[in-house]
Amino acid sequence: MINIAILSAKGGTGKTTLAIALAHQYALANPDREVVLVDADNQGNVAISLDLRGENSLGAYLYRATDTLDLIQYRPEISFHVVESGRMHLYEAEKRIHLDENPVAYMKERLMGEFDSRALLIWDLPPTLSIINDNVLYLADYIVIPTHTDYLSLTGISNLLAYLEHFRSSQGVRPKLLGIAITLHREHVTQNRINRKSLEAAFPDLLFRSVIPLSTAIATAAQNHQTPLESPDTRARESYRSLVKEIHQRMISHQEAHG
Ligand SMILES: Nc1ncnc2c1ncn2[C@@H]1O[C@H](COP(=O)(O)OP(=O)(O)O)[C@@H](O)[C@H]1O
Ligand SMILES: [Mg+2]
Repeated sequence: MINIAILSAKGGTGKTTLAIALAHQYALANPDREVVLVDADNQGNVAISLDLRGENSLGAYLYRATDTLDLIQYRPEISFHVVESGRMHLYEAEKRIHLDENPVAYMKERLMGEFDSRALLIWDLPPTLSIINDNVLYLADYIVIPTHTDYLSLTGISNLLAYLEHFRSSQGVRPKLLGIAITLHREHVTQNRINRKSLEAAFPDLLFRSVIPLSTAIATAAQNHQTPLESPDTRARESYRSLVKEIHQRMISHQEAHG
């Protein structure tokens, strides 16, 4: 099983959009592998965007309101599955997790048996530093950080890297940070360009080369219940495809280096 966490300590950085694109592209490239997009954010944006509904959500399962978990297939011809967040259930489950003996390992111990041992799981995370984020980092193999190229997003990255360092030293686990992805960029805006260059200078090995441009089609994809790969904007679609390829390439390189 491989677990990829889409993490950022800020809202609106493109986590959900990237998580959906990643799930879609992976499902196309790996038809014989179970690809599951798990919505761990109680905003429930994955199911809202893709217009999916299921009873047995992540929240309901963790809250023990149910002992089955629904894996909802996106479309008959596009074979990734979604686990809905369950919104209020997830919010309530979070309180329950806090009361557990080992809160950070709650999901790893109680949930992971529900998935195929060869599954690829993509975790869409909430923007807050929370016990849910801790749980996912505890079970994650890889992390991808999406960001915009505005000032607050850049400062958000430093906060996030500090949190990751703190998490690693306190929990003794080391999910591999694959990289930082620019998920909304306006090259014609001077400040965006400058900030992109600062990111390149600060994180030369972490920053992915593929950059997602600002795109009206991507902005309306959720409303139209489409994944970014189904959007009519060829340039945006291609930039997501190439970003997913880079993410995959880095994962393979890491696996080859570490067995
Ligand atoms: N490249 C893009 N161009 C235009 N709008 C985008 C782009 N990427 C994301 N968005 C929009 O920005 C908003 C936030 O994106 P989202 O993926 O929901 O972020 P997060 O999950 O981090 O809160 C959404 O309305 C989304 O449709
Ligand atoms: Mg989101």
